[in-house]
Amino acid sequence: MIRSVITGTGSALPRTCVTNADLAERVDTSDEWIVERTGIRQRYIAQEDETTSSLATEAARAALETAGVDASEIGLIILATATPDHTFPATATQVQAALGCGGGVAFDVQAVCSGFLYALATADSLLRTGMATKALVIGSETFSRILDWEDRTTCVLFGDGAGAVVLEAQNVAEDGPGILSSRLHADGQHKDMLYVDGGPSTTGTVGHLRMRGREVFRHAVVNLAEVLREVLGDAGRDAGDIDWVVPHQANARILDATARKLDLPAEKVVVTVDRHANTSAASVPLALDTAVRDGRIKRGDLVMLEAMGGGFTWGASLVRM
Ligand code: UT7
Repeated sequence: MIRSVITGTGSALPRTCVTNADLAERVDTSDEWIVERTGIRQRYIAQEDETTSSLATEAARAALETAGVDASEIGLIILATATPDHTFPATATQVQAALGCGGGVAFDVQAVCSGFLYALATADSLLRTGMATKALVIGSETFSRILDWEDRTTCVLFGDGAGAVVLEAQNVAEDGPGILSSRLHADGQHKDMLYVDGGPSTTGTVGHLRMRGREVFRHAVVNLAEVLREVLGDAGRDAGDIDWVVPHQANARILDATARKLDLPAEKVVVTVDRHANTSAASVPLALDTAVRDGRIKRGDLVMLEAMGGGFTWGASLVRM
């Protein structure tokens, strides 16, 4: 059977690390509050010369290198971001040019923090139709550009970064590697809980992120537990079969609560929110690359990727590495 197989991962972070103590000098907050309520200790913030496309390109290069794939072989690039370099063209096309891919399909998807899951499921579908054989799926964000740095309830929560995977259509055995099942969801009724108060068609400005954190938290735990059960059911597996969960890194308490709902031991959950904070669409591929590179996630492991974000949007994919 033809499956989409993750053959390489990569990631990139801005040069500048900002600690909770650094933030406490700018807004009325403390390291204690941030660590206790979120698990975040530091985040990386892009400088002017670091953009969503430059971080994405660096992450993509690292993924191509680990996959042993040349940029010229890539026929499809899907980049998930809510912070594109420009309103248009798509940031994916900028990455395509920077990598020197020379052709193929390139476009962005926008599902905020679930963007990488949306991009991965879309790439998987397109690879299985034969549209391309090798794809780059990227999540890249510079959320620091849309934060209200006066609002302590949001500015301490986010960071910048990028993660990427090379996805290849391969003929594999039933128990072989690849994406086994994916589910995506959206419910547009909750826009006001998490949104940016600007945009080209409304205010004509970029705007700032606004969030009702407590409500988002509540929805996240319920929706994530549900979509994980769906994806496991589709693949005929149960929670006990999972080797690693790579969740969207919004809040350590959401990770704990979701794992508890599914009876998953905390040791199986990859946590990077302490180091990277919430990097929106970048967080899942960034955490995946971190756990692949430090040797935790190995070939053959059954890995659950999941995320929930503005919209609301949410989704999950079960992948045999
Ligand atoms: O990536 C997309 C998905 N996003 C998420 O999943 C985020 C989900 N939500 C969360 O992670 C949490 O709700 C937050 C971390 C945003 C907030 O944690 P919380 O435990 O829900 O706190 P809260 O909003 O209920 O605020 C508790 C108190 C408030 O003070 P009062 O009204 O009780 O006096 C806040 O003003 O904490 C205060 N507070 C802060 N204090 C110090 C809020 N932000 C800060 C801060 N420093 N940075």
